[in-house]
Amino acid sequence: MKVRITDLSIDHTSAFTNWIADKQAIKYTLSKFLPDRDEEWVMLYIKSLIEDTSTWDQAIVIDDDIVVGYCGLSNISEQNRSAEYFIIIGNRKYWNAGIGTYAGRLVLDYGFSKMKLHRIWLTVSDLNQGAIRSYEKLGFTKEGHMKEACYRNGKFHDKVIMSILENQWHNLQV
Ligand SMILES: CC(C)(COP(=O)(O)OP(=O)(O)OC[C@H]1O[C@@H](n2cnc3c(N)ncnc32)[C@H](O)[C@@H]1OP(=O)(O)O)[C@@H](O)C(=O)NCCC(=O)NCCS
Repeated sequence: MKVRITDLSIDHTSAFTNWIADKQAIKYTLSKFLPDRDEEWVMLYIKSLIEDTSTWDQAIVIDDDIVVGYCGLSNISEQNRSAEYFIIIGNRKYWNAGIGTYAGRLVLDYGFSKMKLHRIWLTVSDLNQGAIRSYEKLGFTKEGHMKEACYRNGKFHDKVIMSILENQWHNLQV
């Protein structure tokens, strides 16, 4: 399977709308995706991402033309040379096949090699063990917990803060 990333555009509106319609797929992602959202909302959302210089948003494409999700960097800080990693594979049939980790590697490579970032970090619900495993395979390490930061299915859950620094990333590449 070939995996690549390409700039997210409004051409991905329909696929994006389908991903966030699957409540199981997005249960640990941004709260703003949880209400039902139509194509118009998604198109405006993608437009806002494209205009926002503090985010770098990529569609994840497999086998040349199947768009399975999106990933990238948000909260990009030039001053601190830091950014937050995010990823959603919206089509569950493509989970646990290595696609998320591969796409993550492309994002981290861009972040550290092209954007010259010093630190890339993320937060993840402690219930989302598949995501945590994928992030550990990328070289992220846990650096703390945010107590009861996430409310899902009638309960509060902790979030884990993970990070990787440029020297840790470059040491993993040799
Ligand atoms: C999180 C996500 C991006 C991971 O991508 P992916 O392509 O499924 O991940 P990979 O296949 O590269 O790696 C997943 C790993 O977790 C493991 N895993 C899956 N479920 C697990 C669980 N419940 N407990 C422990 N490990 C688990 C897999 O076996 C695999 O590890 P392995 O390669 O050592 O066998 C994807 O599942 C996804 O988009 N989920 C929904 C959205 C989401 O949660 N985004 C993250 C929000 S912080």
